[in-house]
Amino acid sequence: MPDETDPSRPDTITGPAYAGRTIALVGLMGAGKSTVGRRLAEKLGRAFYDSDAEIEKAAGLSISDIFALHGEADFRRGEKQVLKRLLDLPPHVLATGGGAFLDAETRAVMKEKAVSVWLNADLETLWRRVQKRDNRPLLKRADAKAHLSNLVAERQPFYSQADLHVLSKDGPHTNTVNAILKALQTWTPA
Ligand code: S3P
Repeated sequence: MPDETDPSRPDTITGPAYAGRTIALVGLMGAGKSTVGRRLAEKLGRAFYDSDAEIEKAAGLSISDIFALHGEADFRRGEKQVLKRLLDLPPHVLATGGGAFLDAETRAVMKEKAVSVWLNADLETLWRRVQKRDNRPLLKRADAKAHLSNLVAERQPFYSQADLHVLSKDGPHTNTVNAILKALQTWTPA
């Protein structure tokens, strides 16, 4: 008997329920959306897109420069447009910027065209990871850890609206990839 919960089992004739949809990873900075997303895409044989990278390409500027030169509101407008465009592409794996899922319209488009997966991690894990890079304008402040802690609390009500919730723990990325694949097997369209 094939194990229905085995993420590596061959697809049935129709394929899994999520086959026609983009898998959109949402969650805070440091949750591992890009790293895990890239590996998930490889495993599923899908294209991978990172909304931050697409915004940078479109603007010809880094995220930090967009914030510094144009401000956060402008960045959010660009982010929304880029996500709309990406969500119109054939099914792929999409890593979204940490603030993207806070926008009601973006959440609505994702409900229609994607399966959203909240990569959830605790504050200490997020903090450890974000310290490795200096590319997040929202954390360029003296009280960065306290601010991150506030963001965890403020954004939880939004992220929890994602279709699936997966814990992003330290350890091999394949563990998180497999946890996502297992969760995806449970997904059915509303
Ligand atoms: C942001 C997260 C960043 C980037 C921007 C704003 C946020 O993306 O979009 O700095 O509001 O949480 P990552 O989540 O990929 O770091």
